[in-house]
Amino acid sequence: MRRGELFLTLWVLTVRSTSGEDCISRLHVNVVEGEPFYLKYCSSALRSKAAAIKWYKSDAPHGHAELHLGTSARITLHKDVLEFWPVELEDEGSYFCQSGNDTQKWMVKVIRRNNQSCFTEKQVKSKNVGVTKSLQIPCNNSYYKDRIHRTSLYKDCIKIAESNLFYLKPIQKNAEFKDQGYYSCVFSLHHNGKLYNITETLNITIVEDRSNVIPVILGPKLTSVEVELGEDVELNCSALVNEKDYFYWSFWKENGPDPNVLEDNKSNSWTLEGKTYASKILRIQKINENNLNFLYNCTVTNARSIDTKSFILLRKAGTADIPGHVFTGGMIAATVVSVAVLCLGVVCVICRVDLVLCYRHWMGSDETLTDGKTYDAFVSYLRECGLEDGEAYTFAVETLPAALEKHFGYKLCIFERDVEPGGAAVDDLHSLIRKSRRLIIVLSKSYMSHEVRYELESGLHEALVERKIKIILIQFAPVEDITFWPQSLKLLKSHRVLKWQGDESLSYDSRFWKTLLYLMPAKALKPDGGGSEVLPVLAEAS
Ligand SMILES: *[C@@H]1O[C@H](CO)[C@@H](O)[C@H](O)[C@H]1NC(C)=O
Ligand SMILES: *[C@@H]1O[C@H](CO)[C@@H](O)[C@H](O)[C@H]1NC(C)=O
Ligand SMILES: *[C@@H]1O[C@H](CO)[C@@H](O)[C@H](O)[C@H]1NC(C)=O
Ligand SMILES: *[C@@H]1O[C@H](CO)[C@@H](O)[C@H](O)[C@H]1NC(C)=O
Ligand SMILES: *[C@@H]1O[C@H](CO)[C@@H](O)[C@H](O)[C@H]1NC(C)=O
Ligand SMILES: *[C@@H]1O[C@H](CO)[C@@H](O)[C@H](O)[C@H]1NC(C)=O
Ligand SMILES: *[C@@H]1O[C@H](CO)[C@@H](O)[C@H](O)[C@H]1NC(C)=O
Ligand SMILES: *[C@@H]1O[C@H](CO)[C@@H](O)[C@H](O)[C@H]1NC(C)=O
Repeated sequence: MRRGELFLTLWVLTVRSTSGEDCISRLHVNVVEGEPFYLKYCSSALRSKAAAIKWYKSDAPHGHAELHLGTSARITLHKDVLEFWPVELEDEGSYFCQSGNDTQKWMVKVIRRNNQSCFTEKQVKSKNVGVTKSLQIPCNNSYYKDRIHRTSLYKDCIKIAESNLFYLKPIQKNAEFKDQGYYSCVFSLHHNGKLYNITETLNITIVEDRSNVIPVILGPKLTSVEVELGEDVELNCSALVNEKDYFYWSFWKENGPDPNVLEDNKSNSWTLEGKTYASKILRIQKINENNLNFLYNCTVTNARSIDTKSFILLRKAGTADIPGHVFTGGMIAATVVSVAVLCLGVVCVICRVDLVLCYRHWMGSDETLTDGKTYDAFVSYLRECGLEDGEAYTFAVETLPAALEKHFGYKLCIFERDVEPGGAAVDDLHSLIRKSRRLIIVLSKSYMSHEVRYELESGLHEALVERKIKIILIQFAPVEDITFWPQSLKLLKSHRVLKWQGDESLSYDSRFWKTLLYLMPAKALKPDGGGSEVLPVLAEAS
């Protein structure tokens, strides 16, 4: 081991009192061939006493070799500093510096120069800088500062700065993606009349800064939401955020927030492609006028940045005047009213007789005053009758006048009673019918086959052609039993045909009389009183 060791008289130099400064403490040192290079011992023990310092170089096959002045023209020794002017490939190896029992070691790798480029790729320091983060490119060399006469800065081999000092004012800015590239500082210096360059290159990569993004709220700056009064709405605000950013809704008015506006306490967050997103809901329940046309702001902020987005509630077009609950209520009300009207209609149809009678009674209406007619009704019946039609005859001459005249106050024209016997029958008959408001036909089995047919035909003519009289048909026999049934009678509306129901129809409160009254003209009635509910005449007759 000790075989090849050479001992060298050390030059004790005291000029560099700054020993330790600019010392190289790294074990592994890379250097590009052709550049000035140095190794400097980092022991503090050296300063206290002027201990002897020895330098050794170690090659694997040869073991240690002590270095001394003259070992190589390119290498100089200054106590604790070993300098190479310049370093070459053959200088690669391990170097030791010994002072007393203290030793420092370096492993130097000499890299072949790339003559094609302004820098050598293998000798670059790589650095990632987050976008918007501070980007600094230092360019100074304090060790050679006394010898450096020019400092240049290249970006991707294009010169961007130069000075005649040993340093450049360092670039300092917020990183942008376009700042990415190779930054080479070239220090030019003279030594023993020769020019040397030292190149230090930084490989700067600008990266997405995931740890701290600039928070932004997604979507347009102003969102209008169409609503109807009375409904609930959720405003959903989403943002790109950092974990500790503040994310909140602003919904306070001068005198506090509306009580129906609530912010969810928790925000919902998720990550997508390495980015964190969050959403926060603002709930507005039973929207009222106060909630409309107000800016609800959603904000995300941190110490460096702030972003806000506004939501506004607008009344839904079309239903502008009918708020939701009113509209729904209106629909229900309309349906209920329709159903009610329909029911009422049905009731009216069923009970129209009673309703009309009731109406006439209360209103005291009278349609008989101005028409110039004498009789309320002309009663047409079979005057010469057999046993078959006896009931109808009694009804026509007794029951009907008793009810309509005595009880209800109408004035009837009954041929047998009101026309003088032997009068000019046909003309009289016609004018009597014309003086009457109704033609009551008491229809019995044999009615059609007798002379009353003229009455009938005359009346039908008046009723159907001239529309001056209305017919009331009181049927005493079933239609099938009636031998002759003129076509024109079939045109009568069914409600103008009454069927005598025998005993059922006796009471004045019965449907028969009510319907008859309904078909009779409206008249301010002055009944003769009587008050009896049942017709005594008919009771006797039947
Ligand atoms: C190294 O030398 C110092 C004195 O210079 C001494 O105090 C120390 O004990 C020595 N250490 C070893 C490990 O020999
Ligand atoms: C670069 O040029 C120098 C001479 O200037 C030469 O010695 C060296 O071999 C060249 N290196 C390469 C990699 O071509
Ligand atoms: C520069 O840095 C980028 C990204 O870190 C890397 O891909 C590239 O290989 C580096 N270039 C050199 C010459 O080291
Ligand atoms: C030179 O760079 C070092 C860090 O590399 C720094 O501490 C020093 O202040 C710089 N000097 C000048 C004059 O910029
Ligand atoms: C040193 O760099 C300068 C430009 O800064 C260049 O002109 C010169 O040729 C370089 N010298 C050597 C020896 O590389
Ligand atoms: C809010 O919107 C985001 C996306 O924009 C969605 O992921 C989230 O589920 C929504 N929240 C609610 C309560 O709808
Ligand atoms: C929302 O922001 C707008 C301006 O962007 C402001 O005029 C309004 O007062 C804010 N609303 C609230 C509730 O803070
Ligand atoms: C939100 O927080 C308030 C008090 O900070 C609390 O009264 C309320 O119940 C919370 N709401 C929910 C939905 O957790």
